[in-house]
Amino acid sequence: MTPEFAQRMAGVRPSAIGELLALGAEPSIISFGGGYPDAALFPTDRLEAVFRDAIRTPGGAALQYAPSDGLPRLRMQIAALMTADGTPCTGDDVLILQGAQQGLDLAARMLVDPGDVIVTEDPTFLGALIAFEASQPAYAVVPMDAEGMQTDRLAEVLARTPRARMIYTVPDFQNPTGVTLSLARRHALIALANRHDLIVLEDTPYRHIRFSGAPLPTLKSLDTEGRVIHLGSLSKVLVPALRIGWAVAAPALLARMGLLKVAADTQTSTLNMTAASLFLDRHDLMSHVAGLRAAYARKRDAMLVAIRRHFPQDIHVTEPEGGLFTWATFAPGFDATAFMRDVALPQARVAYVPGASFFPQSPRPNHARFNFSARSEADIHTGIAALGRALHAHRFP
Ligand SMILES: Cc1ncc(COP(=O)(O)O)c(C=O)c1O
Repeated sequence: MTPEFAQRMAGVRPSAIGELLALGAEPSIISFGGGYPDAALFPTDRLEAVFRDAIRTPGGAALQYAPSDGLPRLRMQIAALMTADGTPCTGDDVLILQGAQQGLDLAARMLVDPGDVIVTEDPTFLGALIAFEASQPAYAVVPMDAEGMQTDRLAEVLARTPRARMIYTVPDFQNPTGVTLSLARRHALIALANRHDLIVLEDTPYRHIRFSGAPLPTLKSLDTEGRVIHLGSLSKVLVPALRIGWAVAAPALLARMGLLKVAADTQTSTLNMTAASLFLDRHDLMSHVAGLRAAYARKRDAMLVAIRRHFPQDIHVTEPEGGLFTWATFAPGFDATAFMRDVALPQARVAYVPGASFFPQSPRPNHARFNFSARSEADIHTGIAALGRALHAHRFP
């Protein structure tokens, strides 16, 4: 049969870059494409111990169904992490999610009717666009610079967008640009959300992976009107496979997200929640994160040094103070998708993510996202040097 799909499936399609990235997964290719943390830094022994103990929890509790909002102890532990980070809250304010990604889906489904507008950074996180798509939104986009979303432009966008429902932002070391929203703009964004009565969806998986500079307050901590939904995640600071994320939000919002979560998956895995909770009981997450920060800072430096040495001088890259990515801007007219397909993959044997798919409205072809966390410093050097040679040869064949 030819299935007839619901209208909401109209925008739900495989991403155009999926095929290219699949080619980048071949072992002989040095890929800077994925957003993966470095598996060599996973605390495997400690995770093995907590999983072993979790599975033996008296009464089989860790193998049983659990409250859909999450294990109470884990909610308290997450609240303690948030409080220590300057965003005071209690376990009741925390909803455990299946990764932060689930929060993107639930928030959109809770707030966005077809045609309602989600305001995003331009470019923004591709996974968010994928999550939002089933809610059939329209987008309004706000340009970025070295201080993140340009809030004066946000003010203009909001003034002409009456159906705006939600502002989506990745304020710390944004995916894909690596850029961080400045303090002044955090205040400005909250003031604009208040003035226009909007929800802010604050997505912070990289927040603790800071290499330099002082942490900036979360948008949630600046929120006096209960309009920020804060999303956090253990994926980048512990391991992605746990699929543990969370939302912190005002009770009315959190309760409805919780109802949608029950519909979606009943609950996050009890075993994973128990293991995560035991890990947080036994180990200081932030001292583990300190090790990640040091390792990723070295990799960031290796990538930026290699890019400066090997790329043509007119290619600009961001200098992230944290996170996993830098963002390259090539000369106008350069097509990073075509270059990857025709040159980078077959000749230089290097992959990155072409930037076009991170733009919700008007794809700009002359950008690319480079991940520096997943590869060794030696691979970073080799891969960037090969790509640099290919870029020079492309310029002066
Ligand atoms: C900005 C952003 N938000 C959310 C996620 C999803 O993270 P999780 O593994 O917690 O679902 C990612 C993952 O790469 C991300 O980059």
